[in-house]
Amino acid sequence: MKITLSFLLHILLFHGFNLVLAVSASNDQFVFSGFSGANVTLDGTATVTAGGLLELTNGTTQLKGHAFFPAPLSFRRSLNSTVQSFSASFVFAILTTYPNLSCHGIAFVIAPSNNLSTALAAQYMGLTNIDNNGNMSNRIFAAEIDTMQNVEFQDINNNHVGVDINGLHSVESHYAGYYDENGSFHNMNLISGDVMQAWVDYDGDIAQINVTIGPVDMSKPGRPLISTISNLSNVLMEPSFIGFSSATGPINSRHFILGWSFSMNKPAPTIDIAKLPKLPRLAPKPQSKALAILLPIATATFILSVGIVVVFLVRRRQRYAELREDWEDEFGPHRFAYKDLLHGTDGFSDKHILGEGGFGRVYKGILPKSKLEVAVKRVSHESRQGMKEFVAEVASIGRIRHRNLVQLLGYCRRKGELLLVYDYMSNGSLDRYLHYEGNKPVLDWVQKFQIIKDVASGLLYLHEKWDKVVIHRDIKASNVLLDKEMNARLGDFGLARLYDHGTDAHTTHMVGTMGYLAPELIHTGKASTLTDVFAFGTFLLEVICGQRPIKEDAHGNQILLVDWVLEHWHNESLLDTVDPRLQGDYNVEEACLVLKLGLLCSHPSTNARPCMQQVVDYLEGDTPVPELTSTYQNFNELASMRNKGFDPYIMSYNPSSTVSFDTVSDLSGGR
Ligand SMILES: Nc1ncnc2c1ncn2[C@@H]1O[C@H](COP(=O)(O)OP(=O)(O)OP(=O)(O)O)[C@@H](O)[C@H]1O
Ligand SMILES: *[C@@H]1O[C@H](CO)[C@@H](O)[C@H](O)[C@H]1NC(C)=O
Ligand SMILES: *[C@@H]1O[C@H](CO)[C@@H](O)[C@H](O)[C@H]1NC(C)=O
Ligand SMILES: *[C@@H]1O[C@H](CO)[C@@H](O)[C@H](O)[C@H]1NC(C)=O
Ligand SMILES: *[C@@H]1O[C@H](CO)[C@@H](O)[C@H](O)[C@H]1NC(C)=O
Ligand SMILES: *[C@@H]1O[C@H](CO)[C@@H](O)[C@H](O)[C@H]1NC(C)=O
Ligand SMILES: *[C@@H]1O[C@H](CO)[C@@H](O)[C@H](O)[C@H]1NC(C)=O
Ligand SMILES: *[C@@H]1O[C@H](CO)[C@@H](O)[C@H](O)[C@H]1NC(C)=O
Ligand SMILES: *[C@@H]1O[C@H](CO)[C@@H](O)[C@H](O)[C@H]1NC(C)=O
Ligand SMILES: *[C@@H]1O[C@H](CO)[C@@H](O)[C@H](O)[C@H]1NC(C)=O
Ligand SMILES: [Mg+2]
Repeated sequence: MKITLSFLLHILLFHGFNLVLAVSASNDQFVFSGFSGANVTLDGTATVTAGGLLELTNGTTQLKGHAFFPAPLSFRRSLNSTVQSFSASFVFAILTTYPNLSCHGIAFVIAPSNNLSTALAAQYMGLTNIDNNGNMSNRIFAAEIDTMQNVEFQDINNNHVGVDINGLHSVESHYAGYYDENGSFHNMNLISGDVMQAWVDYDGDIAQINVTIGPVDMSKPGRPLISTISNLSNVLMEPSFIGFSSATGPINSRHFILGWSFSMNKPAPTIDIAKLPKLPRLAPKPQSKALAILLPIATATFILSVGIVVVFLVRRRQRYAELREDWEDEFGPHRFAYKDLLHGTDGFSDKHILGEGGFGRVYKGILPKSKLEVAVKRVSHESRQGMKEFVAEVASIGRIRHRNLVQLLGYCRRKGELLLVYDYMSNGSLDRYLHYEGNKPVLDWVQKFQIIKDVASGLLYLHEKWDKVVIHRDIKASNVLLDKEMNARLGDFGLARLYDHGTDAHTTHMVGTMGYLAPELIHTGKASTLTDVFAFGTFLLEVICGQRPIKEDAHGNQILLVDWVLEHWHNESLLDTVDPRLQGDYNVEEACLVLKLGLLCSHPSTNARPCMQQVVDYLEGDTPVPELTSTYQNFNELASMRNKGFDPYIMSYNPSSTVSFDTVSDLSGGR
């Protein structure tokens, strides 16, 4: 029992005379130095702890708690008179879970009722609610120790003291602190966990309210923190209850009252600081030992698994990452997901390689959804220049459909690489049949002639029959592919274009394959339908002769197949050039026609070359091939023309690869 003797006497006295405490006028006063066994009316979260602390909030969020002196007090001498002077003091402490966060504080309150069940928690501090806050009919006076800044109540900061009348919008407030004897101000941190004392004094004669706070181990500061004039005679009901109200918001603070004294018309009795109960330890004790052990393990496991998932997702993203830019949207339908291509080729595994050319490797794949067999060409392409044009071309080329062209199905783009997806040609490329003996069956004459006609019709389509002129740029046996019915289809059209956009203004990057390059192409770098025709002529000779476009002569010198055939034509032994593997089993007329046509197409002078429509007409036998003598008049002249273009390059010829080399555009006369 820590209630003072005077208070006990007081209670006994009034109980003894069977009088209500409130009736007593001038002498009401009490002091609680600790609350063990104290007669206080509690509600909400408020409790008196075993140690004698009045705990207004218990650490649960969004709750309120009240503690009232059990009986109402009379504040006036008579019903008609004004509110008398009174004085209250209390010792309090606020414990928080987080170092710099707390809510919402404590209020010393004088109210007409001790039933504040309609009041709200959080910023309303258990005093009022949304509807009645500030309403004159509340008849509430409060001194708030506020640890939150609520803009709606125009709070000055999150560490202030205020005088409230009927609502939480303070009539006067001041940031927490005190004036020392020399008049210097000292800040106080209300949520420091330190024990502090507060005094609320009212002078009835001049209607002055003083509120003072200070550290508990200090006597009452001489100068109050707040001193304001507010006539409580117009506020307080007669009689009224006095007590404390507190509330928590989203942060689970604990608000304690350690001692309390009150007196009417006199300074409040001194609280015996020495007898005050001890505050609980600051750190909230762990809820259970098992939890204390399990929680870190669970947390670590969780973080670890999140990390693994993140790493997995990032790697997956990288694995499937593609490049996509705005301008590609219009080509959307031609775009393939890298993921599909990766899965379709077993991660571009070596056993799926169909071959390797000048642009990169070609893989066989099966599209996951459609189960369509495709050939995927991986082209490494570092520069973004020309990419847009090329993709536009890929998209437009994708619309080209012809029985003698390899269908380009679409593309996919990644960093530094372009993937082109084509129809799969089950019988592979023609060069295998022409040059790898034993590996593939020898093509008979009928097949060879049909392949020639197929390729001619494919190239005619590109040059003349489609919406716009498409220059193939890389006609050769390895770009002629055979489908499962042995139809020849021309592939890789337009691809050379990708390397055709020079990065340097002065140079033109030119692509083609040695032996197929027209002389003017070497000089100017400018591809045209007639450079395609030249390459086609060489291709015709390659098919009929079964020889590479650059071959070795009897003395081991490298010579052009065209020159070799031309020499035989000159010597009137043209049929000697026909592939010996046919063992003479061929149509002489047709062979002559193709050989002559080959020479005509590969004529060094562009004027002499036919266009593809003419080529097709010759092959169909509709028109006879013009006599070569009229064009190849002077064999020596021809040789000298060739020397200008070819010889320097023949020396550096590498039979397995596509070559590309730079020519200076100043010399070529621009493009
Ligand atoms: N659509 C396809 N279907 C089946 N096989 C193909 C297909 N495309 C290419 N190939 C195979 O892949 C090989 C390599 O083709 P690629 O086009 O990369 O090289 P190339 O034709 O020799 O030279 P270039 O790079 O000048 O075209 C071809 O020789 C052929 O055997
Ligand atoms: C706090 O008080 C409320 C209401 O009395 C109660 O529901 C809650 O469990 C208490 N919390 C603690 C931590 O004691
Ligand atoms: C507390 O005070 C009230 C009002 O004075 C009284 O009615 C009640 O009996 C008291 N309770 C105790 C336990 O003393
Ligand atoms: C209160 O004042 C009224 C007039 O305002 C008066 O009639 C009445 O007698 C007064 N009552 C007391 C108890 O003084
Ligand atoms: C708490 O606030 C004080 C001053 O406002 C500051 O010095 C301190 O660093 C803060 N502590 C934390 C943990 O934020
Ligand atoms: C408090 O008042 C409300 C109505 O405002 C009532 O429902 C409740 O029973 C009262 N509580 C007490 C303890 O009197
Ligand atoms: C104040 O409260 C009273 C009674 O609850 C009510 O009639 C009145 O409308 C309220 N006034 C305002 C301004 O809300
Ligand atoms: C107030 O001033 C006096 C004399 O200047 C000094 O001795 C005393 O320590 C000061 N008090 C405080 C709290 O600073
Ligand atoms: C309030 O404080 C002033 C000094 O600021 C003092 O003169 C006055 O007496 C105080 N009133 C009460 C009721 O303590
Ligand atoms: C306070 O208000 C009452 C009633 O309205 C009035 O009689 C009294 O003079 C006022 N006191 C002061 C100091 O203004
Ligand atoms: Mg190719």
